[in-house]
Amino acid sequence: MKTIDDLGDLRGRRVLVRSDLNVPLDGTKITDDGRVRASVPTIRRLADAGAKVLVMAHLGRPKGTPDPGLSLKPVAERLAELLGSPVLFANDTVDEEAQHIASALREGEVAVLENVRFNPAETSKDDAERGAFADQLAALADVFVSDGFGVVHRKQASVYDIADRLPAAVGGLVQAEIEVLERLTSSPERPYVVVLGGSKVSDKLGVIDSLIETADSLLIGGGMVFTFLAAQGHEVGSSLLEEDQLDVVRGYIEQAAQKGVDLVLPTDIVVAPEFAADSPPTTVAADAMPADQMGLDIGPDSAARFADVIRSAHTVFWNGPMGVFEMDAFAAGTKAVAQALTELSAREDGGLSVVGGGDSAAAVRQLGFADDQLGHISTGGGASLEYLEGKTLPGLAILEDA
Ligand code: 3PG
Repeated sequence: MKTIDDLGDLRGRRVLVRSDLNVPLDGTKITDDGRVRASVPTIRRLADAGAKVLVMAHLGRPKGTPDPGLSLKPVAERLAELLGSPVLFANDTVDEEAQHIASALREGEVAVLENVRFNPAETSKDDAERGAFADQLAALADVFVSDGFGVVHRKQASVYDIADRLPAAVGGLVQAEIEVLERLTSSPERPYVVVLGGSKVSDKLGVIDSLIETADSLLIGGGMVFTFLAAQGHEVGSSLLEEDQLDVVRGYIEQAAQKGVDLVLPTDIVVAPEFAADSPPTTVAADAMPADQMGLDIGPDSAARFADVIRSAHTVFWNGPMGVFEMDAFAAGTKAVAQALTELSAREDGGLSVVGGGDSAAAVRQLGFADDQLGHISTGGGASLEYLEGKTLPGLAILEDA
């Protein structure tokens, strides 16, 4: 894969950068700017090299039509603050205004194009439609840099098709992400512990399949754990449950036992009558959940056990919160896991901890942990899971051939 160094002298050249600026918003307020901050070094490097930098990105999942609530304008403003220099904004991606901004850019200047997903061709399944949009995007620039790790698993115009139409290289963020994930897939230092949470088992099927082959311990929490507990025959009350995954999960439990993978499920659960911040919490044994309550976090004994396993690991990958961390009463499990990861990262013999996913990263920041306490925080959720699963990621595959 070519890197920015391979692109030669960039002074005066128009560089189209695909970044992942998909940040959580409350109205127009960015609630976690992690992905914007992660995108800055590549953009700054290109600008410092005298390039005319055009940034393209998506926000949310608009249905191929402009949606003012998903405009990248506030994100461009945040980028300007972080860069410490003005950032121009084009209200579309390829219209006359965008073309004008692209051609008028001066050396070292940065412009952001509006949400690429406002154009239905960006995510189209039709190769020709995506290709036509990619042609228009390519006409804005001389060179393409792929730096949006969170979207490299998408076969979309601004990620995939564009790389065939311009001299293309991988950006520093994607490079760094791959280097770390590669350490997890090729020869992780053992013990290798994987902590999975979040609401749905069905989102994690592929990755569980491959992790059973590579990890030494698999710790399961979050909403998805109730499908595991139900598969073991336990009552789970009104907790999240994916009935159609029960057989699959039984298969995983058997497979883990056969392979000697330590599958660690919580032994206690924090339950409450309702999904509400003020619903009174109680801790119960995982095999004795009341039928009229729902599980909203792993319990304190389980949190302590998970933390012990993490602390004695050499390599840890974590994706998905252990409970409803947004509500104080149900945040302790997620906090305990994050805390143990900070201890692993601080260890003198250098344990590697990787937090995968925009949501998990936002969770740890919201709980008050700083990025540099936590080893590597991946900007990609789905992308990092698919990478660990061993899938071909279109946005990377196309660069291999570039
Ligand atoms: C993400 O949030 O994981 C990335 O930005 C990709 O977004 P998508 O799942 O909407 O393609």
